[in-house]
Amino acid sequence: MEVPNHIAIILDGNGRWAKRRGMPRGYGHVKGCENLEKICEYASELGVKYLTVYAFSTENWKRSRSEVEGLMKLFRDYLKKCIKISRKWQMQVRVIGEISAFDQDIQKSVHTLEEFSSQFDKLHFQLALNYGSRDEMIRGIRKIAAECVSGKLSPEDIEEERFGDYLDTAGLPDPDLMIRTSGELRLSNFLLWQMAYTEFYFTDVAWPDFDKKELVKAIEQYNKRDRRYGGVKEEQNV
Ligand code: FPP
Repeated sequence: MEVPNHIAIILDGNGRWAKRRGMPRGYGHVKGCENLEKICEYASELGVKYLTVYAFSTENWKRSRSEVEGLMKLFRDYLKKCIKISRKWQMQVRVIGEISAFDQDIQKSVHTLEEFSSQFDKLHFQLALNYGSRDEMIRGIRKIAAECVSGKLSPEDIEEERFGDYLDTAGLPDPDLMIRTSGELRLSNFLLWQMAYTEFYFTDVAWPDFDKKELVKAIEQYNKRDRRYGGVKEEQNV
């Protein structure tokens, strides 16, 4: 089984998972967070090199105040705990998204975690927080425009290959496989530029139930795909 180099996951279905059990949505997020810890372990065991998860979108601020507050508490606790997790799985953590929208202490935890974990490279773990792909691209375009105005860059130098350098994911390979849990069949503004050639896998399984067996299932499906990138199949090429 060929393990994808980079897997991206949209963690969806915590709320519905909890409701089905007669519990508040926040309970689903707590369970979802526990599962996030496990998925890093599974990914590391399977030999995945890059894992990127969508934990909080630019749209998620619209949720009820109590749900957003509950999520902030989870992020606070998780970011602190993640120092130990990063050492355990030798994983380098990077937060993608506009983190200046978070409280100062959360921003500080992000910097501490990124700095501490920069020594590791078994697994590269990207956590998308207050992330939206359109927002990321607009921020990138502003940087490019500023460089053009200052004369550092000329419009002719703006190329497909270099645009990625201005995104939050600069330096990372594009995802090979994107998994979305809990039945929705859309990208929801996640890594739109980076996933131009990514294979998609959708499952009805809710995020808190997405275990190692489900991850292996997704990778097996990925192995059945014919990845041509717009070219011709190898066997037809001879
Ligand atoms: C989607 O489920 C999930 C979220 C908006 C938040 C994801 C958060 C976690 C997995 C836990 C916390 C993560 C960290 C990094 C500490 P949903 O609420 O949209 O579920 P629904 O579609 O069933 O309503």
